[in-house]
Amino acid sequence: MKEDTLITTAGRDPKNNYGFVNPPVYHASTILSSTVAEHKEKRTRRWEIGNYTYGRQGTPTHDAFEMAVSSLLGGDRSVAMGSGLAAINAAMLAFLESGDHVLMVDSVYGPARNFCNNFLARFGVETTYYSPSIGAEIGGLIRDNTKIVYTESPGSLTFEVQDIRAIADVAHENNCVVIMDDTWSSGVFFKPFEHGVDVSAIAATKYIVGHSDVMMGVITTTNEHWQRVRQSASSLGANSGPDDVFLATRGLRTIGLRMRQHNENGLKIAKWLQDRPEVETVMHPGLPSHPTHDLWKRDFSGACGLFGVELKNNFSEEAIAVMLDDLKYFGMGASWGGFESLILHTNPAAIRVATKDQWENAGPTLRIHAGLEDTEDLIADLDEGFARLNAHK
Ligand SMILES: Cc1ncc(COP(=O)(O)O)c(C=O)c1O
Repeated sequence: MKEDTLITTAGRDPKNNYGFVNPPVYHASTILSSTVAEHKEKRTRRWEIGNYTYGRQGTPTHDAFEMAVSSLLGGDRSVAMGSGLAAINAAMLAFLESGDHVLMVDSVYGPARNFCNNFLARFGVETTYYSPSIGAEIGGLIRDNTKIVYTESPGSLTFEVQDIRAIADVAHENNCVVIMDDTWSSGVFFKPFEHGVDVSAIAATKYIVGHSDVMMGVITTTNEHWQRVRQSASSLGANSGPDDVFLATRGLRTIGLRMRQHNENGLKIAKWLQDRPEVETVMHPGLPSHPTHDLWKRDFSGACGLFGVELKNNFSEEAIAVMLDDLKYFGMGASWGGFESLILHTNPAAIRVATKDQWENAGPTLRIHAGLEDTEDLIADLDEGFARLNAHK
């Protein structure tokens, strides 16, 4: 089956749903059993698709979404979570105990770093940050107690593509589990399980939902790790509600189409920015000038709308504020992956450890999300922004 067909059909079964195209929304806390024997029997089959015991353990609405995501990513099973961060935390906690060690990419999403530094550390789990360009040399950092090699590709804010295959091969030789935050391509442009990833954690809040109106996450894994992952998700209790799952499933049906447009719009704006005199570098892996473009070309079939820009070093904070404050179409907001364009002034040097010196002397950096507006309007908006930037002394 081709991918667009899969995206529009996976997890749906109209023939067994009175002909309705979409699965219904089951609102549930209590789910009844008819007999003591049935109640007991159902509890032994917890987390089997089609077996329902309690609202927190899932409903047919959840099953439909989770099956669709598993198919899109090429994994075996998925579990919907209340946010992307909850998906990351539950995925990590599935494999950790006190005394363990985590290898974490230095370009990781900030709150996942905070989870390691402020939460896992309190429970005796140590984290070492590694450069996103490490590849097979990750082996040099693996210790006897290393349980997880955590990847995010491309990285947050600076968009380095990681050599996931090289990292996964070495991690597996050393019995480590490879977790990947694949929110950037959300299963569309990169197939994590074809590259050796064991567990994918995605912020469904972004492209899967796609409309900036729901917080959700999803963990996908192989049968080998499913019980541990599902147990961890269940114990944390950060499940998602059926209305949100319904909206995420609805978003998923158009993700292929939307991602192609984000890809086109993002690249168009990135290319335009590349030629601007105010710009030092555009951090978009789809551009041949990007240091990890070759890896991106090898492993990805496209790019989403999110990328970074480093400006020349001679613009003040104030000048950047004057540029950004009056943009018409680029909103300033923490999220991304919706239909709308966004821009943020970022500061990678403030949080990096393994690659800090690389960013300390960099010019001011921006993160841009190219939405689904017409790129002529978006480029004109940025053009006026640059005029304000240059005019501000
Ligand atoms: C790369 C990445 N992963 C995970 C998350 C967390 O998702 P959520 O905000 O749904 O918790 C985000 C949110 O910005 C993100 O950018």
